[in-house]
Amino acid sequence: MAETAQLIIDGNTYEVPIITGSEGEKALDISKLRAQTGHITLDIGYKNTGSTQSAITFLDGEKGILRYRGYPIEQLAEQSEFLEVAYLLIYGALPAKKEYEEFKNAVTIHTLVHEDTQKIFDGFPSNSHPMGVLSSLVSSLTAFYPRSIDPGRTPQEVNRTIVRLLAKIPTIAAWAYKGEMGHPVNYPNNELDYCSNFLHMLFSLPTEKYEVDPVVADALNKLLILHADHEQNCSTSTVRIVGSSHTSLYTAVAAGINALWGPLHGGANQAVIEMLEAIRNDGGDIQKYVKKAQDKDDPFRLMGFGHRVYKNFDPRAKIIKKAADDVLAKLGVDDPCLDIAKELEEIALRDQYFVDRNLYPNVDFYSGIIYRAMGIPTEMFTVMFALGRLPGWIAQWKEMRENQEPIGRPRQVYIGETERDYVSIDKR
Ligand code: CMC
Repeated sequence: MAETAQLIIDGNTYEVPIITGSEGEKALDISKLRAQTGHITLDIGYKNTGSTQSAITFLDGEKGILRYRGYPIEQLAEQSEFLEVAYLLIYGALPAKKEYEEFKNAVTIHTLVHEDTQKIFDGFPSNSHPMGVLSSLVSSLTAFYPRSIDPGRTPQEVNRTIVRLLAKIPTIAAWAYKGEMGHPVNYPNNELDYCSNFLHMLFSLPTEKYEVDPVVADALNKLLILHADHEQNCSTSTVRIVGSSHTSLYTAVAAGINALWGPLHGGANQAVIEMLEAIRNDGGDIQKYVKKAQDKDDPFRLMGFGHRVYKNFDPRAKIIKKAADDVLAKLGVDDPCLDIAKELEEIALRDQYFVDRNLYPNVDFYSGIIYRAMGIPTEMFTVMFALGRLPGWIAQWKEMRENQEPIGRPRQVYIGETERDYVSIDKR
């Protein structure tokens, strides 16, 4: 017999079905609650609300577990390639050798963007934030590929849209950076792998050939894998909810990019470096900032600390801390901000305020440090996150469409004025 919970409202008992996930997670299915009882549930920030049943990513915040399609993040980060993980997330299984070669070829042959895209880039002021440029350009893909506007076409067409997105985002992202720098853009080099090609498009100059350092390419591969999906976070929920109106994949992903931009989400890696620079410019008094973060009257928070779901440790942070050490050692980087980061981490991990609230460095504390060491400018950090998160957004959009989920439309509890009569302006 199906498991149920009992809910008693005004003396009436209602049976609420219990759903059990494949990892034993329990949920009360309240989808019929309003029809049966006239009540809704209220959960601001959706801290305790499941919006879907998903087979993509499993995350246990208490135990620090993260798995894509059942595979532990530690194994994927250590042993796989980003495009392989993208395939896994999007299509549900690790690709066989031939499938993987075909997929990589498909992504590689679509790396060029339409030359008319240059005109759009030219329209942006040179100091535009690359996240704004990225989301606009991703939206503009609907203009270049109008058939993508109807996402309910054949699976082949949906796949072409998916492949184009994976292939073109690195080119758009690198060009957004070049525009900001006032440098000529680099065309993709299809002889390079996904990560190396992106580094080439970012760093090659007409005056200087950029040699891809394998340690740097490997760290980038890891970073992208670690960011590839994270179940129903702010940007992913945005992609699903925007996509649920049957808008195109490009526009749903553009919405996800905008959601990611905020400093409480993907913008945190940029905010980390800005915070470290502010501490350095203010004389390097770390304790002062630790105290500021604890002051309830001060809005300042330690960026890169804390997480909505990981309450013991962020498994991604553990992996990336090691990669950060490797990159810093290999590149021999000497940077006062990185010294401040190390000291801040030590102090905060011992401080009672942070210990009591289970506040640990999250993945973005270290990712910002690696990007900085690689020479990637601060405003590009969230773009790097978007590049990594792309397969997750695509996989979640695809799952939402295949499951034929209804349009997302939460309810609310209205707390405004009750009905009152309009008063003409001269009588107010
Ligand atoms: N610095 C100081 N205090 C903090 C911090 C912080 N970074 N994070 C949480 N707290 C305190 C908060 O003031 C509250 O204290 P109290 O219980 O005394 O009121 C307590 O810890 C719980 O905080 P919360 O705001 O209820 O936690 P949340 O789950 O709503 O927020 C968070 C999670 C990530 C938004 C938050 O920890 C934060 O703002 N961190 C800094 C920004 C950051 O690094 N974001 C990147 C997240 S990882 C990337 C991603 O996956 O998107």
